[in-house]
Amino acid sequence: MPYQDFRQFLDVLRQHGELIDVNRPIAMADVGKALKHAYKAGGVAVSFNDTGTEFPLVCGVYSNRAQALLAFQTDEKGILQKVLDGLDNPIAPVMAKGSAPCQEVVLTGDDIDLRRLPIPTYSPKDGGPYITPGIVVSKDPETGVPDIGHYRFLILGKDTVSFSAQPFHRFGKNQLKAQKLGIKPRGALVIGVDPILAYTCQVQVHDQTNDWEVAGGLRGAPVELVKCKTCDIEVPATAEMVIEFEVDMDTTVMEGPLGEYTGYYTPATPKPVGRVTAITHRKKPIFQGLLTGEPVTENHILKQIPFEASFLKTLKRQFPTIESVSVRASAGVSFYVVISMNQRFAGEARQVILASMSSNIRPKWTIVVDPDIDVHSSSEVEWAMAFRVQPQKDTIIVGDIPAGPSDPSIDDPKLARPMRTASAIGVDATKPFGKPFSEVADVPGWEDFAMPELEGR
Ligand SMILES: Cc1cc2nc3c(=O)[nH]c(=O)nc-3n(C[C@H](O)[C@H](O)[C@H](O)COP(=O)(O)O)c2cc1C
Repeated sequence: MPYQDFRQFLDVLRQHGELIDVNRPIAMADVGKALKHAYKAGGVAVSFNDTGTEFPLVCGVYSNRAQALLAFQTDEKGILQKVLDGLDNPIAPVMAKGSAPCQEVVLTGDDIDLRRLPIPTYSPKDGGPYITPGIVVSKDPETGVPDIGHYRFLILGKDTVSFSAQPFHRFGKNQLKAQKLGIKPRGALVIGVDPILAYTCQVQVHDQTNDWEVAGGLRGAPVELVKCKTCDIEVPATAEMVIEFEVDMDTTVMEGPLGEYTGYYTPATPKPVGRVTAITHRKKPIFQGLLTGEPVTENHILKQIPFEASFLKTLKRQFPTIESVSVRASAGVSFYVVISMNQRFAGEARQVILASMSSNIRPKWTIVVDPDIDVHSSSEVEWAMAFRVQPQKDTIIVGDIPAGPSDPSIDDPKLARPMRTASAIGVDATKPFGKPFSEVADVPGWEDFAMPELEGR
């Protein structure tokens, strides 16, 4: 059975020792520090139950791979296939019958006050308190196709926010289309959902994909939706909270800085203002937080499995003997990828490198290994890099191709996004195709050899 809501997922995290409670008071400026400890302790989620507001704040629910597997209700062996099967079998959403939990409390007009919510300032130089785990639901104003995606929101006042929607992400595109059509862009910021919806946001799909259908496929059951109170947008009926807003594209404010997923601050830049038209929530809602900044954080774990599955699916179309891919959370996810494959002919690994470099995730580093190397194991990949590579002939460097997002190492990171180019490197760390290679010096049969003296270690 898929999760019905955020709360059910939190119960499962608690049962698995993946969620702890902090019952002493916590200042919003200290949440980042507490979460840094939680990451050092393996990425356990934390429920801050005394936030100085009416609401508890749960953070870190997507901060390690074990939590991701609990979210997908599978194990490491089954995860990629489960996601690929879900992507191949989309399920349309349904409208909730009767009243929806996320609208048990409806606040409009003067009752709207974002300052009542527990919203941390995560890194000391952040431009202010940020809602970081929120999922924006928006629609293509021409086709009506809905999109869901994570976007950060800076709190400016009781009912005003600013946010960063990159023009190459769908909410950014929807906004620009609306502006051209002379329509005020609308959106709904959803907090606290069935975790599959959060992972769905990061699946790489084309712009006219109905993301609710993707989420339905991944859950194996339709997502239940309800119409917002002040706009023509549908949101998950069991969400903890929904912040409905309209965008004033003519008024800009400085939004940022924010400790970004690269581990570096991105500077403040002019961004539009969002005006909140309603806040709806469950009775006793659970608010959510998410630390951003130096990897590994929730940002990276949220992207890892969806990126791996989407990337594998795309590459396999052309290279069916690719066995597995790993995108590295510690390298900002898309900047460093490892691919294992059985080459069918000489030079195929190099073709895979070129395909990877020109894929939409724009990796800076691509390493191709043989299938005997576990793509998720840094030590096995380093072994291949050390002894199956001659850098002069096994690397490909391509310059002046589009840069990955927010990379601080490019020559001029202040350049406008479409102007930013970078170089990418690929390493063919496979054994030479069709030629003899040194024999691996392993000790076959060791797995079956009993060593009771080591039990429990
Ligand atoms: C936690 C988190 C926060 C994010 N914040 C932003 C953001 O503020 N602006 C943005 O353009 N992308 C942001 N992203 C990246 C997009 O959500 C992501 O790339 C997504 O695929 C965009 O999907 P869409 O184009 O379907 O909306 C964030 C990702 C995560 C995981």
